[in-house]
Amino acid sequence: MANLANQTYTAKEFNLSGLKGISDETLEMHFKLYQGYVKETNRLMEKIAGFLEDGQVDQEEMPAYSELTRRLGFESNGMVLHEYYFGNLKKDGGGDPARNSTFFKAAETSFGSYEIWKVDFVGVGKMRGVGWAICYQDPTTGILSNHWITLHEVGNVAGFVPVLVMDVWEHAFLLDYKPAERPKYIEAFFQNINWEAVSSRLRTTKSATR
Ligand SMILES: [Fe+2]
Repeated sequence: MANLANQTYTAKEFNLSGLKGISDETLEMHFKLYQGYVKETNRLMEKIAGFLEDGQVDQEEMPAYSELTRRLGFESNGMVLHEYYFGNLKKDGGGDPARNSTFFKAAETSFGSYEIWKVDFVGVGKMRGVGWAICYQDPTTGILSNHWITLHEVGNVAGFVPVLVMDVWEHAFLLDYKPAERPKYIEAFFQNINWEAVSSRLRTTKSATR
């Protein structure tokens, strides 16, 4: 992700006030956290570009260069996953996806039924630990699978497409629920899903290869 072109990311704006069960206070705090990931991603890319300016990474630069590059994995995934998360929520969203939607059909094909897909996704979301529950689509087969991501960067599947992204770090719900009430937050999350956005992330062709 580091480059010499000095490209910087700009934090996106999300208008999500008035969600069910996820307060505006939580969202305001969460947007600030997200903006921090954008800022830190830019800062790390700039610092790494600084190492590359003389066309090489010297042996004595290697420890600092390595640490910054590892942190870039954490910060940049933190940035991108929050954009997917906020992007799959909306006011007056929620319920179940339409039975004729591409997501509903993909869940049926992949899990036998939407209900079983949901049991699995919610189950992943309840796993102990700090991270994310993510439904991915394998673009080479169209098949959906649910994954646990530790922190932001451990467990993402290379090349798979994030379709539904749920933040289950405690900061996502601690102003609204107790730490042990994560299941209530997950219920609230499902009441605000933007299913149109979720379906639009699915690849309709199977032209991808690896
Ligand atoms: Fe978060």
